[in-house]
Amino acid sequence: MKVFRYKKELNNQVSELKNQKKSIGFVPTMGALHQGHLALVRQALKDNDVCIVSIFVNPIQFDNPDDLKKYPRTFEDDLALLANLSPEIIVFYPDAHDFYDGNIQSSHFDFDGLEKEMEGKHRPGHFDGVGTVVKKLFEIVRPDKAYFGEKDFQQLQIIKKLVEKTRMSIEIIPVPIFREADGLAMSSRNRRLTKHHRAAAPFIYQVLKQSRVLFEKENFDTVINFVKNAIGAHPYLELEYFEIADEKTLKSAKEKKSGNKYRGFIVVYAGAIRLIDNISLVES
Ligand code: PAJ
Repeated sequence: MKVFRYKKELNNQVSELKNQKKSIGFVPTMGALHQGHLALVRQALKDNDVCIVSIFVNPIQFDNPDDLKKYPRTFEDDLALLANLSPEIIVFYPDAHDFYDGNIQSSHFDFDGLEKEMEGKHRPGHFDGVGTVVKKLFEIVRPDKAYFGEKDFQQLQIIKKLVEKTRMSIEIIPVPIFREADGLAMSSRNRRLTKHHRAAAPFIYQVLKQSRVLFEKENFDTVINFVKNAIGAHPYLELEYFEIADEKTLKSAKEKKSGNKYRGFIVVYAGAIRLIDNISLVES
């Protein structure tokens, strides 16, 4: 497998692929890969001649230093998982200093207000960090298509906006949330859950599914209160927020407007671990 650490080397490789008229699918990740990430990689392999996966724990998108310090780093295992899918995958594993030219700092972005909702409120600077790294990655990898999970739905919408605003000709492909058999959305942070918190965590998706059933008949406040009370009553879980928001604007909504699509967005602490999930409220 080809692994590149320096952007100049990857750039040369990409130029070669472009000369050969190969289409490039790109999957940016922070590593500690699981089946959720691999769903993106599988899709990228299917749609393109070549698949490039980046593995980079991007320091500037962490608002919590402890989360950055403890973020799982499993590079050898990640490579084995990717090689198992296809030895042709190209891995970009940047050196932070080289990647940021020694200036490890966020740029500021205006994503037409998308960055101010939900995660934007709770994780100051997070989307500037994500925008900075993804824009730079796109400039180096120059993909035709890039794959993002609906698990981080706000991030997905922000990346679409980034591409629109910077007029990069990259197609952003959303990939549905991949879950454990018990419903817990897969996440690199899940491996840091204690036994009790791991056992409690699938409750989040159960509540989300119930909220979708309620959403068909009840008003927004009833659904929101149901989720607040259900999670609030659980001894091992603590709700940070639950919002029903419009899929496009990500603005919190109070009543249904015809033609709009809604999602329930939730963040729950299971002990020290912050878990994020969401559900489409249009189908049932
Ligand atoms: P990371 O959390 O590693 O996720 C990489 C990609 O995998 C994201 O697009 C994320 O939405 C997707 N993903 C993670 N878990 C998933 C699941 N259970 N089902 C479907 N997709 C899932 O998101 C990031 O990294 C970073 O912010 C990044 C975009 C790489 C920028 O640093």
